[in-house]
Amino acid sequence: MDPAETFATLMSPEGRLDPYPAYERLRAHGPVVQTGPGLYAVTGYAEVDELLRDPRMRVSDDTWRDMMLPQWRDSPALSTIARSMLETNPPDHSRMRRLAAGAFTPRRIAAMRDVVAAQADELIEAMASAGRGGRPVDFMANFAYPLPVAVICALLGVPAVDRPLFRRWAADLTGVLEPEITWDDLVVADAGATELVGYFTELVAARRRRPADDLTTALVQAHDAGDRLTGDELLANLVVLLVAGFETTTNLLGNGLAVLLAHRRAADVLRQHPEHAPAYVDELLRYDSPVQLTSRTSSETLRAGGVLLPAGSWVLLLLGAANRDPRRYPEPARFDPWRALLSPLSFGAGPHYCLGAGLARLEGQVAFTRLLRRLPALALSGTPRRRSRLTLRGYETLPVTVGELA
Ligand code: HEM
Repeated sequence: MDPAETFATLMSPEGRLDPYPAYERLRAHGPVVQTGPGLYAVTGYAEVDELLRDPRMRVSDDTWRDMMLPQWRDSPALSTIARSMLETNPPDHSRMRRLAAGAFTPRRIAAMRDVVAAQADELIEAMASAGRGGRPVDFMANFAYPLPVAVICALLGVPAVDRPLFRRWAADLTGVLEPEITWDDLVVADAGATELVGYFTELVAARRRRPADDLTTALVQAHDAGDRLTGDELLANLVVLLVAGFETTTNLLGNGLAVLLAHRRAADVLRQHPEHAPAYVDELLRYDSPVQLTSRTSSETLRAGGVLLPAGSWVLLLLGAANRDPRRYPEPARFDPWRALLSPLSFGAGPHYCLGAGLARLEGQVAFTRLLRRLPALALSGTPRRRSRLTLRGYETLPVTVGELA
């Protein structure tokens, strides 16, 4: 199968459910491969890392968007993401990122540990009682979604009663992060974006009237203090922080639990030695990455992995494939938390390196150790259902039985 055909398979419903065979077929042609006119896919760990750090590789800007879809400004979904730090290049990117990064200091993240633990324990007890008598419980709806939502809402100062609103809106909006989307996807994503922007417009007004000790107030004050953040940028970054804060972490929890339940011996070791949680979480992030890809365009002609990328190329950086590069990870398809070298590319690299990586790792470490300790007999029950998404890889439902409590 040639690279273009393999790429088409990757984009198909079958490829979205299990992209790993297509990654290996692409890798057979080299770490960087042309998959279409002006289109390249990168599967090598070193090459993805290098390209993400290369200042000549840029996230899509307005010129690119005007060329690809001239009506993008009319789409609430595309224009919201375009105004956030996720899709902005320096110097605007550095300005926005600096403002938000103040809230993600290691000290502030460490201080979240008690919030995460208390929230996890509450959800575990609720799951235990819902699963009494062997009744199956959906892990996604009962734990993987509510935990990260509660945490990011606490940071942003979003009232707890509003948390249930976000699951649908965020799932709809993140459809636009797929490498190929249809008009129908865009209509759905626009509806989600409109709700989210409307929600944050009201929250911003409320915090302006009555400031609080939260990230929303901090960003509102940065906006009001001068020209450091425009009104559109303020709303776009709040939406992206909320959505990036849980859609991805939800998938770390779902994908990770499924792997642990399929590797009982490794899970038992973690239960007995919670001090190994950091290595386990990094290996789970590597083994089945919640974010499988990102993309960049080359602002000038450059060479990567022995391949010439002409200026203006669209380059898909397949994080999930790089994390299974055998040159970096021997026997990459084996789950092995004892690997000498981890540092997966699951949070990206370079200037857009995930702002919430420390928080996401903390959530994973706290969640898995507490789940395994309180629910040692947790087991899969029935067939889990994957979402049909390539970029944000996760489960729609993950039915489990809770079993005997510890
Ligand atoms: C950026 C993954 C959790 C906020 C990114 C990027 C990746 C990523 C791959 C870089 C995208 C690119 O280079 O194009 C993940 C994963 C997570 C996670 C796998 C969970 C397991 C979080 C959390 C937050 C967050 C909890 C917020 C609290 C952000 C933000 C950016 C980002 C704001 C944009 C940074 C920038 O453009 O400078 N994330 N993320 N993420 N993430 Fe995360």
